[in-house]
Amino acid sequence: MRTLTTEEKEGVLKEIAPHAEQYMRTMSYFRCAMMEVETKFRVISEDFSYRHDRNPIETVKSRLKSPESIRRKLIKKNGEFTVENIEKSIFDVAGVRVICSFLDDVYSLAESFLGQDDVRLIEIKDYIKNPKPNGYRSLHLIIEIPIFLFDEKRHMKVEIQMRTIAMDFWASLDHHMRYKKDGAVITDKTREELLRCATLSAELDGSMNELRHEILGE
Ligand code: GTP
Ligand code: MG
Repeated sequence: MRTLTTEEKEGVLKEIAPHAEQYMRTMSYFRCAMMEVETKFRVISEDFSYRHDRNPIETVKSRLKSPESIRRKLIKKNGEFTVENIEKSIFDVAGVRVICSFLDDVYSLAESFLGQDDVRLIEIKDYIKNPKPNGYRSLHLIIEIPIFLFDEKRHMKVEIQMRTIAMDFWASLDHHMRYKKDGAVITDKTREELLRCATLSAELDGSMNELRHEILGE
């Protein structure tokens, strides 16, 4: 993905300007939804730590999609850059990434989270069981949760990416290289090497998961 120039960024902001207030309000709803999701994972983690004497989550990170990215995605979907279209067709405006200690933790936390009665699952993509051809692994969930505002309740969509430290290590460097080298031709050899690294990281996850069984007896 190419970095936009300052002029291009200003262009995007000019497009939003007539609807700035509505746009900012909507982004605030998405921020509230991210806070809800983050808190839910922290609560699950707190209880898990109490029961098992170890923390299943390494980090929880959130990000709100930038106006430039939102616009780009809407145009790709042949939609106009309007606030209504954002809520209707972009499901990853609010993104939460949960980095887990062990492979099993990804699935136990996901199961616990999805079992909550105010969480509605919209879509699940298991790139751990079925990695992408380039080797990318993660569990992706699109969910909807209620946010309780001062005098109203709204349902918001959030994209959650759940992965282990090893998966995150690979994905972060992969992202970093793509971002830096946008438009560059990636040779078959490089592609193969990236896939080899992904396979190694998957083996590492498997081994650490087994070691956990042996050492901690869980
Ligand atoms: P978009 O939502 O438009 O990205 O398409 P999609 O719904 O088909 O995407 P998917 O659920 O497969 O992936 C969404 C997000 O996962 C991306 O925005 C990235 O953050 C992450 N992701 C997916 N594939 C890769 C990959 O090959 N490498 C890295 N580093 N991240 C990836
Ligand atoms: Mg997506």
